[in-house]
Amino acid sequence: MRTQNISVFSRQTSRFIILPLSFMTIFLLYTQNAPMDDTIYSFDDLIFEPSCSCKTCIMGFMDDDWFVYRYNPTIPALLNRRNSLLHRDAYKWWRGLQPSRFRVNYTEVVDQLFSLFPDEEHYSDAGPDRCRTCAVVGNSGNLLGSHYGQLIDSHDLVIRINKGPTKGYEKDVGSKTTHRILYPESAVDLEDNTHLVLFPFKIRDMQWLISTFTTRHITRTYTRVKSSIKANENKVMILHPAFIKYVYEKWLQKNGKYPSTGFITVVFALHICDQVDVFGFGAKSDGTWHHYFDKSHTNFKGGPHKGDIENTTMYQLVHRNKISIYKGY
Ligand SMILES: *[C@@H]1O[C@H](CO)[C@@H](O)[C@H](O)[C@H]1NC(C)=O
Ligand SMILES: *[C@@H]1O[C@H](CO)[C@@H](O)[C@H](O)[C@H]1NC(C)=O
Repeated sequence: MRTQNISVFSRQTSRFIILPLSFMTIFLLYTQNAPMDDTIYSFDDLIFEPSCSCKTCIMGFMDDDWFVYRYNPTIPALLNRRNSLLHRDAYKWWRGLQPSRFRVNYTEVVDQLFSLFPDEEHYSDAGPDRCRTCAVVGNSGNLLGSHYGQLIDSHDLVIRINKGPTKGYEKDVGSKTTHRILYPESAVDLEDNTHLVLFPFKIRDMQWLISTFTTRHITRTYTRVKSSIKANENKVMILHPAFIKYVYEKWLQKNGKYPSTGFITVVFALHICDQVDVFGFGAKSDGTWHHYFDKSHTNFKGGPHKGDIENTTMYQLVHRNKISIYKGY
C-alpha cells in the first residue's frame, strides 16, 4: 500500500506536498493499529482528483493565494429563479449603477423573466471529465490581419461581446458564436444557435429583454434602444446582479464604477470554462485603439471603467496560467 501512495505522489505536482504528507502520517498511524482495508485508498482519490481533464485547469489545485482571494466558484454567474434573491446591499449597489426613473419590482420582473426564458442551473457540470475550452473575443482592431479565425472557432464556446460582427471578418475573428454578451444599448440580431447573455446594469434592462420577446413596447432606457431583436428565446441567459458586484469588488477591488463588458466576460468564462483564451483585447501593435469593424478610435481609459486595473488583472491571470491572451497584429 505504501508503494501505491508514493506512485501517486510522483504523478502529482510537488507544490501540493504538505497536505498529502499530513494525510500520509494519519494513514501510517492508522494502519499501525487497524487492519488493512481497501477503502483507505479513497483518501488519495479525493485529494488528487484533477478538477478538469484539460492540460491545465482554471480551478487547478487552488494553491495560488492571489487567485483564491478573487475567485469564488460559489457565486452564481447566471440568474435563475432559485438563486435570484438579492441581499439588501447587493440590490442597493446594483440599483445605483444606472439610476433610473422607472419604478420596477425586481421580484415580479424575475418571475416574468423565467416564465419566458429557460430557468436552469447552467454549467454546473464542472468535474474531472470535463474539458471545456472557451474563446473570449473582444472587439480590438488588433484582430485585423491576425488570422485567428480557425483557432477561435476550434474552441467549444466562442463568447463575443456587444456588436462585434463575424460576417466579412471570418479569417481574423472566426464565424462561430455560441454566446454574445450584450445590453439593450448595444444589442444586435443574433443567430438562432447563439445564446444571448444579458449584462443587466439595471432592472429596466431585464424589462427590455422581456419586452423584446413580447410586447416590444420598450423603446428607451436612458437612450433610444431597439424595441426588438432577432434571437432564440430558448437560449437567453442573464448575468446575475450579484455576479456583477462580485467582479467589481473582488476582481477590480472597487476601482472605477463597474466592470467593463469585456472584463466581466473574461471572469464569466473563468466560471463556466476549464480553459480560457482571450482574443481582441488591448491596443493594436502600433498603439492605436479602435474596433476591428470600424475605424473610429476608442478611448480605453475613459468612461466608467478603470482600464488599467482590468489590464493589470488580466496579465496577472496570464502570469498565473489561468488564461492566455492572444495579442493579435
Ligand atoms: C414586489 O412584488 C411582490 C410579488 O408580487 C410583492 O410580494 C412585493 O411586496 C413587491 N415589493 C414591493 C417593494 O412592492
Ligand atoms: C497591460 O499590461 C501589460 C503587462 O503589464 C502591458 O505590457 C501592457 O502594455 C498593458 N496595456 C495597457 C493598455 O496598459
